Amino acid sequence: MDLLIEAALAARQNAHAPFSKFKVGAALEDSAGRIHTGCNVENATYGLTLCAERVAVFKAISEGAHEFRRVAVAADADSLTPPCGSCRQLLWEFCGDIEVVMGNLQEILSRMRMSALFPNPFDKHL
Ligand code: THU
Repeated sequence: MDLLIEAALAARQNAHAPFSKFKVGAALEDSAGRIHTGCNVENATYGLTLCAERVAVFKAISEGAHEFRRVAVAADADSLTPPCGSCRQLLWEFCGDIEVVMGNLQEILSRMRMSALFPNPFDKHL
């Protein structure tokens, strides 16, 4: 089993999702092979919720990582959960054209590149 999806599944256990009940975990691998994890964190105003992917990206950046290879996203869903639009923007900006591994509790996997998930992006390099 892919270690990165295992890390995302483990991070998912820490999800704080009392409103949606939809727990998500993410794991972002940097160019040194270090894994930065995240989970979704909801709050009472709903709108301040952070997705698992964004938590992982911000944790990684705040710890000095700046080059990335892959991100894994894990949720309990038959149809695998790709990053939402906001997360796609941030993943593209901070991680570039990395591989996105999507998985569920049955460890069914799907892999796509960011350039396929987020074509024609608004880009910081413009
Ligand atoms: N969520 C994520 O953490 N990542 C995604 O890619 C999709 C959605 C979270 C946000 C919210 O806490 C819950 O899933 C339901 O939308």
